[in-house]
This record gives sequence, structure tokens and C-alpha cells, in this order.
Amino acid sequence: MNKILVTGGAGYIGSHTVVELLQAGYEPVIVDNFSNSEERSLEGIKAIVGRNVTCHRIDCTDATELRKVFEQEQTIVGVIHFAAYKAVGESVEKPLMYYHNNVGSLVTLLQVMQEFDVQKLVFSSSCTVYGIPAELPVTEQTPVQKANSPYGNTKKVCEEILTDLAHSGNSNIQSIALRYFNPIGAHPSAQIGELPLGVPNNLVPFITQTAAGIREQITIFGDDYDTPDGTCIRDYVHVVDLAKAHVVAIERLLQNKAGAIEFFNVGTGQGNTVLEAIHAFEKATGVKLNYKIGPRRAGDIPKIYADVTQATQELGFKTTSTLEEAMKSAWDWQLHLQESTAKL
Ligand code: NAD
Ligand code: WQD
Repeated sequence: MNKILVTGGAGYIGSHTVVELLQAGYEPVIVDNFSNSEERSLEGIKAIVGRNVTCHRIDCTDATELRKVFEQEQTIVGVIHFAAYKAVGESVEKPLMYYHNNVGSLVTLLQVMQEFDVQKLVFSSSCTVYGIPAELPVTEQTPVQKANSPYGNTKKVCEEILTDLAHSGNSNIQSIALRYFNPIGAHPSAQIGELPLGVPNNLVPFITQTAAGIREQITIFGDDYDTPDGTCIRDYVHVVDLAKAHVVAIERLLQNKAGAIEFFNVGTGQGNTVLEAIHAFEKATGVKLNYKIGPRRAGDIPKIYADVTQATQELGFKTTSTLEEAMKSAWDWQLHLQESTAKL
């Protein structure tokens, strides 16, 4: 059976992608060191697909351990590389930890892929590479700018590594970098979702924890931006739609329809303000949220949302879920978390 190696496959987006790969007839093999996920992600995947998925508990920066996985798994035909740290604030405090992990794991993976002649790679990139975008909506040709955090710079550097490798003429590896906008929500089964490890940095987990009474109140970081209601605009994409984009991307590579290196925005193409997101949650769940307006958050980009023309035309991919559906799925996952915690 042709296998797809999914690094970081126990994580938020990786676990959803493992489910979609299985449902598309692929055989995913997870590599994860569980630095930002838990075993219960694997149980959640099993609850959805009805079977166990092989998982190697190793660090992707460890070439020796990664080689053992490629030796053991023999028929790996492609890799989807999610493994990375993603907390913007933490990256400012611990840049070396982020460069070592995020850049180091990609370089190690590429070296081992070359040793085993595995030629197809989908890479998790981020709209953060656009910085404060020069234009809106953002296209793949919108200039990539100096990132506004060491985390964002690790994504920019990784894209440059893939580009240099593609142009070197010394590698058979073909890559597709998917630039995610703001992934939100959870699988409709509520068996997998974003694990709440610590105080959430992101808006939607903070919304669901406030709705659940875990957090007292949401602070909206600024309402004096040049937007319809003064709050920041983002492109919130359902994590299941995002997971499906990875299946489409790996298929494009396996069918040899891709170039040496390609970039695609993965978003809805729709921008929504923070207040619109909050009201969408309230409408979808019937739960009233306690929020206040506070000062701006340093580093926040006022407005960013995707032009998805290239993904639509080249990948034949479009998102299908609405903001309200995504918010409802996030709330159902929060309720599942509470039920499962209550049973412990
Ligand atoms: P996540 O933290 O839930 O998942 C990442 C997984 O990788 C975790 O299970 C973690 O244990 C694992 N991991 C980290 N370093 C590893 C290593 N060295 N070896 C093995 N496993 C390792 O994060 P996520 O939200 O699923 O993000 C997945 C990818 O998508 C990341 O590369 C992230 O930068 C990128 N991304 C995420 C977002 C977002 O908002 N969630 C947006 C844009 C891009
Ligand atoms: C969304 C909006 C906040 C929390 C981050 C990373 C990015 C990517 C996705 C990894 C913003 C506002 C938030 C709160 C608020 N991660 N907000 N109150 O900042 O767009 O992107 O996650 O790749 O790299 O930067 O997402 O969810 O933190 O914020 O008002 O308590 O919600 O100001 O406008 P962001 P977010």
C-alpha cells in the first residue's frame, strides 16, 4: 500500500488531514514527538475511521530516528510536513528553539527524503509570510515580506529552502507549499480538534472557552482599525476544508501534475472582522459571549484575506464550510472536551 508520511500528524491540522487521507483511500503513517499534542488525538482518529493509524513517536530533527521510519515503512510515496512549533509570542522569546525545530526539521526531512528517493512533499506554510500584505485580497504573487515574528520567519525561510532546492537542479523533490490563512473549527464528529494546551493565543479557542465559562471574558484587541466595525479582518477557514486541500495537493504531486515548487493560498477568499466572528459564533450556537474592547495587540495585521483563484483553477479546490458551520464545530468540540474530561 502506498504510504503518505504525515509529520505532526497527531496535531490539530495533521490529525484532520490523516482522517481525510484515509477517507480518500491513502495509507497515512504519522510521525510525531507529541511536543504539542496528546495520544488522545490518535484515539479520536480511530473513533472516526474505525482503525488504528501507525504512529512513530520521534523527533523530525533526529535524522537517525527519521531514517529508521523510512527504512521500516518502505513504501512511502509522499510526505506532508506539519511538524513545527506555531506560537508567535513564544517564538519572540525563544527564537533559537523555533529555528532549530521548524527549519531544522524541514532540512532533516529533505535530506532523508533524498536518501530514500521520496520525491513528493506538501509543506505547511502560512499567510504570515505576507506580513502586512501589499494588496488585498492576497494572491500567491503578493510580495512575501519580512515576517513579523521569528515564527513567521521560519515559514519564510522554509519556503526559501524549498525554492533553492527546486532550482538547484540536484534534487528530484517536488514541493507544494500551502499558505494557510486562519484555520478554525473541528471535525463534525467532535472526536478531534485543537487541543487546549495552556491559555489560547488564538481567537476561536478563546471564544469557545469563554462560552464554556473557562475564561471570564474575551478582549477584542482593538476596534480602531480601518475596517467596517474597527476590528481586524481575517480569513477563517474550516480545518476540514484545509485538510482536504492537503489531499488534493498530494494527489497533484503523485499524478506528476506539479512543478518543482508551487505555492497556494488556502483560505475562503472571504474576510471577516473579529466582531463578525463573535456574532457568527453566537448565531451558530445560541450562546451569548461576554466580550469587551481592549487595546490593540502588538504585531497584529489589520486586514488579511486570500485571493483563492489559483487554488481554484490549478487545484480545483474551494472551501465549502461557512463561518457559522466552523464556529458550531468548534463549540461541539469544546463540549466534547468537557464531557470527556468530566468522565475522567
Ligand atoms: P499543532 O501544534 O497542533 O501540530 C503540530 C504537531 O507537530 C504537534 O502534534 C507536535 O507535537 C508536532 N511536532 C512539532 N515539532 C515536532 C518535531 N520536531 N518532530 C515531530 N513532531 C513535532 O499545530 P497545527 O495548528 O496543527 O499546525 C500544523 C502546521 O501548520 C504547523 O507547521 C504550523 O506552523 C502550520 N500552520 C498552522 C496555523 C494555525 O493557525 N494552526 C496556521 C498556519 C500554519
Ligand atoms: C485573530 C484575530 C486578533 C484573540 C495567528 C498567527 C498565525 C497563524 C494563525 C500559525 C486577530 C483577534 C484574538 C483574542 C482578539 N498561526 N483576537 N482577541 O493572529 O490572525 O494568526 O494564528 O501559523 O501565524 O499569527 O490569529 O486567532 O490569534 O487572532 O481580538 O483573545 O482575533 O487581534 O485580529 P492571527 P488569532
